[in-house]
Amino acid sequence: MVAEASVLVILGASGDLCKRLLLPTIYNLACEGLLPERFAILGMARDAWTDAEFRERMSAGLTAFHTRTSYDAAVAAALIEKLHYIPGEFDDPAAFARLKAALETLEAKLGTGGNVLLYLATTPALFGSIANQLADAGFARRPSGWSRLIVEKPFGKDLASARELNGVLLANWAENQIYRIDHYLGKETVQNLVAFRFSNALFEAVWDRKHIDHVQLTSSEAVGVEGRGGYYDKAGVLRDMIQNHLLQMISYVAMERPASFRAEDVRDAKSRVLQSVRVYAPDDVSRHCVRGQYGPGKKTDGAAAVGYREEPSVAPNSITETFAALRLFIDNDRWRGVPFYIRSGKRLWKRGTELVVQFKKSAGDLFQGTAAAETLDANRLLFHVQPDQGIEFRFHAKSPGTNLALQTVNMRFDYREAFEASRGTGYEVLIHNALQGEMTLFSRNDLVEASWRVVQPILDAWSADNAPDFPNYHAGSWGPKAASRLIEEDGFRWIEVLNRESLARIPLFASMSPVFLNKMALILKPTQASKGDAIVKKGDVGEEMYIISRGRAEASDDAGVVLKTLEEGDYFGELSLLEALPRSANVRAMTHCDLFAVHKRDFDKLLADHPELSRDLRKAAMERYKK
Ligand code: BG6
Repeated sequence: MVAEASVLVILGASGDLCKRLLLPTIYNLACEGLLPERFAILGMARDAWTDAEFRERMSAGLTAFHTRTSYDAAVAAALIEKLHYIPGEFDDPAAFARLKAALETLEAKLGTGGNVLLYLATTPALFGSIANQLADAGFARRPSGWSRLIVEKPFGKDLASARELNGVLLANWAENQIYRIDHYLGKETVQNLVAFRFSNALFEAVWDRKHIDHVQLTSSEAVGVEGRGGYYDKAGVLRDMIQNHLLQMISYVAMERPASFRAEDVRDAKSRVLQSVRVYAPDDVSRHCVRGQYGPGKKTDGAAAVGYREEPSVAPNSITETFAALRLFIDNDRWRGVPFYIRSGKRLWKRGTELVVQFKKSAGDLFQGTAAAETLDANRLLFHVQPDQGIEFRFHAKSPGTNLALQTVNMRFDYREAFEASRGTGYEVLIHNALQGEMTLFSRNDLVEASWRVVQPILDAWSADNAPDFPNYHAGSWGPKAASRLIEEDGFRWIEVLNRESLARIPLFASMSPVFLNKMALILKPTQASKGDAIVKKGDVGEEMYIISRGRAEASDDAGVVLKTLEEGDYFGELSLLEALPRSANVRAMTHCDLFAVHKRDFDKLLADHPELSRDLRKAAMERYKK
């Protein structure tokens, strides 16, 4: 639907956000025919630019940062024509008076009826004072039309400052004028969490503690702090990702059925579930929460990466966390006792946001005494949020053959195959909704405070213990080993979502067929070893073989003579599985190692299905061990 006639006022219009994100977003809306005819953008910032200069810069920015496959010069030119600019200091009431006069001139010319969307695109420290200046200049209550305020993130830096900011905003603005942005809510696949849950009766019926074993939410980033060290060093992943994006996603997954899809009903449901997340005492924090900071290592392309403390504008002894893993509980009837594991970090081995819902295992007694009993695993529902977008269900099927054996298989829906959507900035739906007065995708004061309540004791406990053992993970790895321990002590493992690209990095698999890779992706189990750990002991009867994703290990004999150094992409432990013989060497981690383990039962199945792999492995073993 085309948005209502209006003026978009951008406070902080000379900044990066405006150029890189807002303009490309508005341009996309224009290309989709969603912008009204009577529309203008009025920017204000410190820089002493004229309209012409503003237009020139924004035009250059748009050519550089637009997200569409082809650039529509005519649409862009028409949009640039609609740009206006007022220089002004944000602490100067006269500047806001000038802004108001300029707005009124535009309104009179365009006939926008007094509708104004005000976007706070400045440094967060100014949100409160700009909102006050705007109110003092009469922007909050206008004689006609609507007046809405978009507040960027971060919303506060802790519970107290978030409350304070809410207090300041609500002193002059009504809650239904305030649009608090969380860009994750603009992501299709995040919005889909709600659509999926409440439109599929099959899953809605089993969405509770009786049927769901646990939930995992991972949002890993391969990038480091990308030149934002100054900001990030004061934030950390808890504030930067978890308090907002991850808890918003959890609220979608866990909320009760809202009374309707109207904004207030959805926000009520989200708010209630966030209020039920258990708030930890200091002791709980050490039991349920793990933090990490990256040291030097590698980027995904193999190039060297500096450690966090060496990043520009980061304190050389910084204790800011770049990784966190939490075990949360929601104390309500639906979720009592179900752990929600969430983790996020920078400079991890790949970029990916995935939510895994693991169902309870089926009782299995029926399969007692058959080959199937051993392989009975839990059903899993995976939401691939990014970069792959889709939904996947993992379940069992009988594998072909004379006996009753099961295999984990999957059904996968891929957004790319099902829908044709043009690539956007992810902000389109948010800006469009704000122009329409649709508030569902924006955060409300109680929602923001509820998520700060969850995070606050963790922030407190971590700042009280100011000598963490940092850095504790290598750039390019899966994060600190303690995060694996956190989930493993409950008998689970993090599900690392693998795709063909990540598997093809392993030489053993490079030439394998897509069917094979798909199977591999389902059976590889991530595990970690610290420097010095014995991964395989000579003489043991092996249950698993290993592939090194990251790190280095050494195979040695009893006398400690090194037989072979094992590097990334190498595998070991296969011989014991192939021959059903005791391990013929010790393998010890020489550095921290991220490993994929393949269990014997999956390995046997794989060999039966892929005799070519069996041949390759035997041949390689003959050469390696001179057998
Ligand atoms: C932002 C954080 O909110 O989200 C960044 O400040 C982070 O540090 C980004 O990189 C991640 O967003 P996305 O959409 O790339 O997952």
